[in-house]
Amino acid sequence: MNKRLIVGNWKMNPLTLSDAKKIARMARRAAASLLHTEVVICPPLVFIPACISKIEPDTVSVGAQNISAYEDSPHTGEISGTILHNLGARYVIVGHSEVRAVGESDETVSKKIQMALSAGLRPVVCVGELVRDEGGAYMDTLRTQIRDSFANVPKSQARNIVLAYEPVWAIGAKEAMLPEQIYEMSLFVKKAFADVFGHDPAMKVPVLYGGSVTYRNAADIISVGKVDGLLPGRESVNMSGFPDLLHAVDSVPI
Ligand code: PGA
Repeated sequence: MNKRLIVGNWKMNPLTLSDAKKIARMARRAAASLLHTEVVICPPLVFIPACISKIEPDTVSVGAQNISAYEDSPHTGEISGTILHNLGARYVIVGHSEVRAVGESDETVSKKIQMALSAGLRPVVCVGELVRDEGGAYMDTLRTQIRDSFANVPKSQARNIVLAYEPVWAIGAKEAMLPEQIYEMSLFVKKAFADVFGHDPAMKVPVLYGGSVTYRNAADIISVGKVDGLLPGRESVNMSGFPDLLHAVDSVPI
């Protein structure tokens, strides 16, 4: 791993274009001083063009929060990977629990991953258990989710995938998962990824953690949790919290 990866999931924030531009400027400014941390911002779709800098090379990349499972033909209201790529997006979040919660199946997640990859976008694929039961059934749930979400994804494309472990119970919560547990779970999801793609791709896939990440817990999650990056939601639109988070991550030796 050369660099850590921070993917800011803005969700349905902010409410105005001018605020979106301000947040993008804040992220770009903070990212400019980082040595070994790569930054991706994922604004609401309509703000993407305004959040892409005209000046190259940019200090941040821009990603979308969702993608259509279809490439073309009649699909009212959908946005294809090609449209996203043509807009300038280079990443896309796929399988976020908030999208899964309104009916997205593992099969659809798999189609979206394939669409992203064939359009030249890097999918940031979210997986995570709803609850952490005493008996450990959540491990089976997670293994199945990973197996089915990556079904039919060409093995040759494994190197373009980013895996985001997001325990659903820790999203939008008060506290993140404990860094020691994050370490255990990052190994577990890598193992499940290896069951699909084989050992070598699994050793290389970046694993991010998401769920109540803040500037306060970011460094510990990186150093103790030993993940390759983070997927913050609320903190990614926090004008002071996000720069602090980026600097905290960058200060952890690689
Ligand atoms: P949160 O969201 O950081 O606000 O918990 C994370 C996510 O949903 O990706």
